Amino acid sequence: MLGSGAVRADAPLTGTQPAQWRVIWTADPATQATVSWSTKEAGSSHSVRFRVRGSEDSPAEQLAESGRYTGGEFESYYHHVRLTDLLPATAYEVQMVSDGNESPGFYFVTAPATDRAFSILHGGDSRSDQDARRRMNKMIAGLVVDSYDNDDLADDILAFAHGGDYIVTGTKMELWSMWLSDHELTTAPDGRLLPIIPARGNHDKGKPFNEVFGFPDGDLNYFGFDIGPQVRFTTLNSETSTAGDQAHWLKAELKESRPTHRWLVTQYHRPVFPAVKTPGSGLKSWVPLFEKYDVDLVCEADGHNIKRTVPIRDGKHDETGVVYIGEGGLGVPQRTPKTDRWFLESPGMADQGNHVFVLKFTRDALQGTCLLEDGTVRDQFTRPVRE
Ligand SMILES: [Fe+2]
Repeated sequence: MLGSGAVRADAPLTGTQPAQWRVIWTADPATQATVSWSTKEAGSSHSVRFRVRGSEDSPAEQLAESGRYTGGEFESYYHHVRLTDLLPATAYEVQMVSDGNESPGFYFVTAPATDRAFSILHGGDSRSDQDARRRMNKMIAGLVVDSYDNDDLADDILAFAHGGDYIVTGTKMELWSMWLSDHELTTAPDGRLLPIIPARGNHDKGKPFNEVFGFPDGDLNYFGFDIGPQVRFTTLNSETSTAGDQAHWLKAELKESRPTHRWLVTQYHRPVFPAVKTPGSGLKSWVPLFEKYDVDLVCEADGHNIKRTVPIRDGKHDETGVVYIGEGGLGVPQRTPKTDRWFLESPGMADQGNHVFVLKFTRDALQGTCLLEDGTVRDQFTRPVRE
């Protein structure tokens, strides 16, 4: 491996020592990934060394796109290296280097290009309870380790979809910096970086979101990509116009993906079948498209509770319909769900508690498991392959 084997979370953000390491998926994750980190000072030279894990080749080196994070008095700098032309289902060693200061050696694994079973995580809302956020991040690292500690490919966790509301005030870089340091805790002890798939929440206003996750300035943060050839994963942005361009894009995305994929999964922040609040505008802009193109699972956040709706079509329970899960518990006080809403009644459910969802994709079924912080299974569900 590049660098030392010892990976320590909570790296101090000091000078030009690389810290706040992360891997981000926003485009074809079989061949692309963004490797990002932060430094306290601007420095002058920032790059990533990388090579296929275990290779004896001398590592390639790619320069970062760098800049100062926007967001108040707090000064720190982002560095993004957009790796492309990667091999699918391949582990890459990476090491961040800023002005000669090296990060520990890490690795990440690209998405498969073949049809195999796998799992991903989904959660949301990590903004208000830092202790809980850190505990959930450690739990996530443990889930990842356990998922590779056996011969079962189906439980292997490939990525972590975060449905937004990372921090309370999205314009305050000081808060982002705390989140970024806490995110280091999702790194496995052997240096495995878990790719994050970011969605924007209502608290994530302002420029730092794009700077943290390597989006171009002004990007609208909706995108879709394949995870393996049979899973289409679409991230929407409930914090900009959900109609107009985004709805047109979603329609084209789903229309093209449905005939060629076993599973269509979508994430965004503000729920359209909420357990606590009123529905987001996606109820009008997106739900007719979810239903027309038979989306298999929709992952929501924002409500601070646990929920799984009944399958919904045309505003009522229909076994051919769309199931919505959520609504955020990665470090926020939980709200009391309104369990008398028709879409939460049995066989749907609602509860509260810190949680993360494990979504397992196999040839036969999409299996969802809602895990509480202590590892208790709070909910399990299965979505069948659509005929
Ligand atoms: Fe929210």
